[in-house]
Amino acid sequence: MTRMVDSGLWMLDKIFGTRNSELRTMIIAIDGPAGAGKSTISRLIAARHGWTYLDTGAMYRAVTLMAVEQGIAPADEDELGALARNVEIGFKPGPGGSPQVFAGCRDVTHEIRSQDVSALVSEVSAQGAVREALVEKQRAIAARGNVVMDGRDIGTVVCPGADVKIFLTASNPERSRRRRLELQQKGVEVSQAQMEREIAARDDYDSSRELAPLKAADDAIIIDTTNMTIEQVVDKISEIIEKQLK
Ligand code: DC
Repeated sequence: MTRMVDSGLWMLDKIFGTRNSELRTMIIAIDGPAGAGKSTISRLIAARHGWTYLDTGAMYRAVTLMAVEQGIAPADEDELGALARNVEIGFKPGPGGSPQVFAGCRDVTHEIRSQDVSALVSEVSAQGAVREALVEKQRAIAARGNVVMDGRDIGTVVCPGADVKIFLTASNPERSRRRRLELQQKGVEVSQAQMEREIAARDDYDSSRELAPLKAADDAIIIDTTNMTIEQVVDKISEIIEKQLK
């Protein structure tokens, strides 16, 4: 029992970075703007090590989807906060390695990627009460250890004590090209110019918001993936992790 309590405390130290933890369990924070490749890279890193992958953006998207369906306005902080606290967001390994996302027992994997949700998620995720509720859920998952978390504020707010902090970025045209490819595979056509405008607007909103704005932690390693393959990025981050594990 004492050992369990001890290890719980060590985990809190690890999340908040209050003490150099000697636990051999890792928290990897991967932050960056939309389309930088965070989810693909994080998933592959987690798979390589047999760790959990947590897509925190999917949690903000799930709350946004529920809000749209329940007719809650994206500016109604109280209602959104209650929704974010009450909804149980779960993940399950899906086909092809990408996780399935659940709100309660309902599979919302595809709906949370719709254009409607994408258009509103920045506004919903800027509400303090929503962030508070979701950060708490994210820390509870981080506390289990051996987790790769991707988002905007993992290294700065959610787990400032993470063992490895990566800030992934790429040029707007390249990120737009990647997002268009993803959408094309789902049969959605968007012009390059429109996608560049959407990405620029989202970057602007996410980095200028008051709460937990998108920015690299002071001790994050910045990787510009514009001219890198997925494999090169995964290898580079794995090298950084291996060094940390020694
Ligand atoms: O990574 P994504 O595009 O699925 O994220 C969707 C939105 O959620 C994005 O506009 C910013 C927000 N988000 C956030 O504010 N904090 C996080 N940790 C993750 C995502």
